Amino acid sequence: MSALLEVRDLTVRLRVGGADREVITGTTLEIAEGESMGLVGESGSGKSMTAKAIARLLPAGATVEGSVRFAGTDVLGLSGADLRRHRAKVAVVFQDPRAHINPVRRIDDFMTESLRTLEDVPRAQARTRAADALEEVGIDDPARRLRQFPHELSGGMLQRVMIATALLSRPLLLLADECTTALDVTTQAEVMAILDDLRRDRGLSMLFITHDLELAGAVCDRTSVMYAGQVVETSAAHRLHADPLHPYSAALVQARPDVTSTADRLVAIPGRPVSAFEAPSGCRFAPRCPHALDGCRGHEQTLADLDAGRVRCERAATLRGRLLDPTESPTESEETADA
Ligand SMILES: Nc1ncnc2c1ncn2[C@@H]1O[C@H](COP(=O)(O)OP(=O)(O)O)[C@@H](O)[C@H]1O
Ligand SMILES: [Mg+2]
Repeated sequence: MSALLEVRDLTVRLRVGGADREVITGTTLEIAEGESMGLVGESGSGKSMTAKAIARLLPAGATVEGSVRFAGTDVLGLSGADLRRHRAKVAVVFQDPRAHINPVRRIDDFMTESLRTLEDVPRAQARTRAADALEEVGIDDPARRLRQFPHELSGGMLQRVMIATALLSRPLLLLADECTTALDVTTQAEVMAILDDLRRDRGLSMLFITHDLELAGAVCDRTSVMYAGQVVETSAAHRLHADPLHPYSAALVQARPDVTSTADRLVAIPGRPVSAFEAPSGCRFAPRCPHALDGCRGHEQTLADLDAGRVRCERAATLRGRLLDPTESPTESEETADA
């Protein structure tokens, strides 16, 4: 498979109060042309930092190791005009549109600014392209919307404006960072449908970041799960639900209310999620893992192929197919399996 995006062993440290804080450790993932990849994990696991590293939007003072290749180009080495071109081809849509739009400027100015300043597109032509993009994301009467101010638009409408704006530079990859999280369920479904259409009609690739495993499963081809700054599993999205490879993915599935499930209770994940910089050595999930053995603690885990997926757990082959089985009691089965 020739990947549009290839992230290899990406480690990111941010400068915090004079010290380096690791926020991503050795992240590896790739996205094919036209593919939609979900990136799922609890808050603080490093999802947004992964997107920012790909789009080269990390805070000043960040240090980066590893490699990011996009359409054959080394992204980490880009500067000047090449970097601007990269940022046009990799568009980001964030969670809160109001935090990314100037409230005292009209939608028209916001949408056409980079076309006018970076691409020298004349104003009238930029406005026509903006109106077309608004139509493409299902906004009626785009001419009227362009004259409005952000406060005159609902959150869902404004998020459509952000997506339409991202499309103006004709990106190949859309990084959607929790872009439906702040919306009500109906609006969320509408925005998801728009993203899905764009992928189909334009062949756009997508990194769909969410803490909602089910949502990722509904719209993505594959899903990567992050824990404490590391990718712990990448699997076909539909399979991750039914047959996860990593104990953390299984815990996420079981912690999720599911109307079709026959399970009579939700299983909370014990302990609290940690970020990369506070993670224990060895398997980072071991302190919360019902399947952890003494050997998992303090023993570094690597991301390895298993079946059609990839998993960072050396017990994964032993635990294969048993992680969601309600009749399996972790402690008992450990003894028989490893005796
Ligand atoms: N600007 C920043 N400065 C320092 N630390 C940050 C900054 N932004 C995020 N972090 C830390 O980086 C880690 C990963 O954050 P993030 O990628 O935003 O997580 P997620 O998007 O998965 O919730 C967290 O521990 C977070 O506190
Ligand atoms: Mg985030």
